[in-house]
Amino acid sequence: MQAREYSPVDISSHDFWDQPFAVRDEAFAQLRAADGLSWHHPWPSMFGIEEPGFWALTRRADIVYVSQHPELFTSADGVALNPMPAEIQRFASFFLAMDPPQHTVYRRLISSAFTPRNVRQIEEQIHRNAVGIVDDLVGAGDIDFVAACSARLPMLTIMDMLGVPSADQASVAYAAEKLFGMSDEEYSTADEQANDPAAQIMLLNNTGVELARFRRKNPGDDLMTSIVNAEVDGHRLTDEEIGAFLILLASAGNDTTKQTTTHAMMALVDNPDQREWLMADFENRIGQAIEEFVRWSSPVLQFARFVTEDTEINGQPVAAGDKVGLFYCSANRDETVFEDAGAFDLTRASNPHLGFGGGGPHFCLGNQLAKAELRNLFRELLTRLKSVEFGEPDLLYSFFAHGVKRLPAHVR
Ligand code: HEM
Repeated sequence: MQAREYSPVDISSHDFWDQPFAVRDEAFAQLRAADGLSWHHPWPSMFGIEEPGFWALTRRADIVYVSQHPELFTSADGVALNPMPAEIQRFASFFLAMDPPQHTVYRRLISSAFTPRNVRQIEEQIHRNAVGIVDDLVGAGDIDFVAACSARLPMLTIMDMLGVPSADQASVAYAAEKLFGMSDEEYSTADEQANDPAAQIMLLNNTGVELARFRRKNPGDDLMTSIVNAEVDGHRLTDEEIGAFLILLASAGNDTTKQTTTHAMMALVDNPDQREWLMADFENRIGQAIEEFVRWSSPVLQFARFVTEDTEINGQPVAAGDKVGLFYCSANRDETVFEDAGAFDLTRASNPHLGFGGGGPHFCLGNQLAKAELRNLFRELLTRLKSVEFGEPDLLYSFFAHGVKRLPAHVR
């Protein structure tokens, strides 16, 4: 193979990811305007794995193409852009790290448990929890908005859905949070970053296994009972697979909605005209607004795939074994798709963002659930709080999640 030249635009260093989203997007804008596809130095690995580098896909159309061709761009060797052993990823990410047809079976098994009755029950729980969270906020004064609001609903939703007993909820929440914030030094020292994830992963896995065993013995009228009984083409989930699903849910379903809540609320406070537009007809406009909340926040910055055979992406040859990074954060600012892409504009009539992925087999399974959470929470926040003022956000250092760790707020 010919030696490839690395792009002069640095998106691999710690310093690059230490900058705010809008500053980083200036580099992505250069890449989008140039070739769209560029070769970069590998990210540092916590596991001592050496890779030659990765292709960065920065335009929306290329990311959609790769997402929709799993036969050419596999997830089975892992979807982490930072070099990480595939076995660890398979254990921790369950069917996120599989390709069709195996992926299809698991996805159908899980989807079949979400019966209309279970979904109704979950929506009622979401509504009750959203009301309870905002009850605590009204008149609260000085708070950290992330801890007092954004972090609560996604975690409560998953705990309720799976039936995690209240006594275990704090440790499960901590494990999930730690797993997601792994790259931020505040959450983990370098030593912990290598060893701690295993401990958090095991705790989540064991919780899932225990819940599954419990529901097999004591069937209830809940989602976990439907999950243990689900059957597709003669396949059923084992307790260990349900444990792996809990790890996937705890990481995929938690921090994402939490970050969207924080970013969207900050944007609404900064843009009173947008808030006014939304509140003029909340029930009819919130669906469209949520699409912009997710585009604006881009809580998942990227996922990766490996190339399965020599092929091309938009005319650029790529070789079997190459890694490609799908930068959803960049796709969501693609100026050929979004007018005034850097503006928070709830009135966008068309908003084909890639916040939930590029539309292939792995498209976010929880997108409806996330939307139900955001709809219920923002209804309460925007109608019941008399005022919200924010201080400076404390940003999460991460090349994977667009996060805010703390946000000082004064609420009345
Ligand atoms: C605003 C909130 C959310 C965002 C931005 C988000 C984003 C994503 C993204 C980018 C993917 C990968 C898509 C791909 O590779 O094509 C994904 C997959 C997934 N998400 Fe979400 N997600 C959110 C909320 C949730 C929630 C609430 C849940 C469930 C409780 C959830 C469960 C999942 C699962 C299970 C997958 C793996 C699907 C598969 O591999 O087939 N997500 N999500």
